[in-house]
Amino acid sequence: MSLTIGVLKESAIEETRVALTPEIAKKLIQLNATIVMEEGAGELSNHLDEEYEGVEFCDAQSVLKKANLLLTVQPITKEQSNQLGQGSCVVGMIFGHLNKEVVYSLKEKNHTSFAMELMPRISRAQSMDVLSSQAAAAGYQSVLIAATTLDKFFPMLTTAAGTIRPAQILIIGAGVAGLQAIATAKRLGAIVKGYDVRSATKEQIESLGAKFVDTGVSADGEGGYARELTKEEKSSQQAALEKEIANSDVVISTAAIPGKPAPKIIRAEAVRAMKPGAVIIDLAAETGGNCELTQAGKTIIENKVKIVGPINLAASLGKHASEMYSRNLFNFIAPAINDGELKIDWEDEVFSLSNLTRDGKIIHASSKEAIEGGSK
Ligand code: NAI
Repeated sequence: MSLTIGVLKESAIEETRVALTPEIAKKLIQLNATIVMEEGAGELSNHLDEEYEGVEFCDAQSVLKKANLLLTVQPITKEQSNQLGQGSCVVGMIFGHLNKEVVYSLKEKNHTSFAMELMPRISRAQSMDVLSSQAAAAGYQSVLIAATTLDKFFPMLTTAAGTIRPAQILIIGAGVAGLQAIATAKRLGAIVKGYDVRSATKEQIESLGAKFVDTGVSADGEGGYARELTKEEKSSQQAALEKEIANSDVVISTAAIPGKPAPKIIRAEAVRAMKPGAVIIDLAAETGGNCELTQAGKTIIENKVKIVGPINLAASLGKHASEMYSRNLFNFIAPAINDGELKIDWEDEVFSLSNLTRDGKIIHASSKEAIEGGSK
């Protein structure tokens, strides 16, 4: 069957991103794909309909009727999945364990779905890694929020009105978002320290010109991720880290453990020991927060410390975040497009490991376990 790629306007609140940019639409058309998009799909990220050469625009219902490959940013909804023709393909973020009804629909409709967040973290898949591209946007943006929330300059200034000392920034969690936050805070001239429990991060933090905070706790887990800390490890981490937190003007926390709630690293007492006017940006707000006091989507003030709990920060950089995301999707699907048709090489782990549903089944083992308890 010839390939018709559909893209809808994202329906989630405050989502600005679009799964397909004009640059990538053009490349897909060169591979003989037909593209149908909902009118205004790229509008919120300033990718206007008229920039999409060779793309047909119509209403959402028609997109779902015509498309046999749907590209999304946010998880496809159950209703969209139900309306999409039987046995279609879906590529986007899905987070199946949090969206069980969606997965049941994908399964029942016999859709072949690829959850981009399941992409293996291997060198070859870096260009397809949406978690990384979107985390980079969030890490960058977190520093800008901090800089405009703090009532101090970031850089050292020597002025006629005297010398201003640079701000002290602590970044907790040095994955993709944290490293981008370190680089951005350094560019703004702050004094930056970084902390993570994975041993490889010391060198990465230092290579960006920041100081590594050594708490003596090392917790390398499987697949290059961190593991959860034991009770003893948590208390030695706490003692060393809370001194650093108290001395910081800004703390940006990004710590995460895949499939688990965010580790609680900043206790309420630690917040109360911070300087008046200090700022915490908790990038883990969506998964429960690294700070005990964080409220997702809100800024709260505790003892004169502002705690910001942003959600979906990448969407606030809609233009560039969409460009990166759309390129990630292209790098993933282009090798499977053969003269206007989709032919998946199931021997390729990039496809097999990111495959969530196929032939009426949940394929991805740990998602299946989380969704069905391994029973169906
Ligand atoms: P993530 O978003 O899962 O977690 C963020 C950071 O929090 C991680 O660096 C983690 O070590 C840290 N963390 C967890 N618990 C902590 C605690 N209690 N205290 C302090 N820090 C804690 O991480 P992300 O950004 O998704 O990266 C995860 C891994 O994947 C990294 O090793 C990264 O280098 C690797 N990676 C590999 C890629 C590839 O080769 N294709 C692409 C992107 C990332």
